[in-house]
Amino acid sequence: MEITNARAESLSVDEVYRLLIGLIVPRPIAWVTSLSLEGVVNLAPFSAFTYLWAEPPLIGISVMRRGDELKDTARNIAARADFVVNIADETLIEPVRLSAAEHSVDVSEVELLGLSLVPSLDVVTPRLECVPAALECGLDQVIPFGGRGAQLIVGRVRRFHVRGDLLDGGKVVAERLRPLCRIAGPKYAGLGEVRTLAPVRRDGSHSYST
Ligand SMILES: Cc1cc2nc3c(=O)[nH]c(=O)nc-3n(C[C@H](O)[C@H](O)[C@H](O)COP(=O)(O)O)c2cc1C
Repeated sequence: MEITNARAESLSVDEVYRLLIGLIVPRPIAWVTSLSLEGVVNLAPFSAFTYLWAEPPLIGISVMRRGDELKDTARNIAARADFVVNIADETLIEPVRLSAAEHSVDVSEVELLGLSLVPSLDVVTPRLECVPAALECGLDQVIPFGGRGAQLIVGRVRRFHVRGDLLDGGKVVAERLRPLCRIAGPKYAGLGEVRTLAPVRRDGSHSYST
């Protein structure tokens, strides 16, 4: 089959965006609660989200601008220097989707969607009660990138919340977590089949420990 190719520089921003979000899939979703200086809890999903490192525990979220403006999430995190990454499972697809709607800064998506909050223990921003896991994060750094004022928000995890039944010997069992993932545009996905294979060691042998 023919392989289509194009120089990135010959493509429009929309074309590039469609290729990137179509090829880098599935993406996990950081369902972020953040607290405004006025005390309004904001909620929004972000799928440009990854784990960065464990020592110290760092995660990253890319937040674009809305026109020239910072999104509420980015503004709140800058103001309070903390936030919570809530991890949604497949059952939460509707509230995740709806929480991406644009509302003014004085409107709480949490209240609009009728969701309940639980106080956090190590940060001022509360977490969602309905999720199977949540990461309380302090702001580590904000790294501006690109030409349109986007920011990589790096969070340092202060506390992990994981529902007990998801853990097996300190490891999260993905099949029990059933995380909601993002595909391009309006598409979401679950994990699909999970296969367990022995890692290959440097000498080529396959040893395995669960
Ligand atoms: C599943 C999903 C993933 C999204 N991922 C991102 C993302 O990675 N970065 C981003 O800037 N916007 C992303 N968005 C859009 C934001 O959620 C949207 O702009 C939202 O209104 C921001 O809310 P805020 O202004 O309350 O922070 C995503 C939307 C959806 C539905």
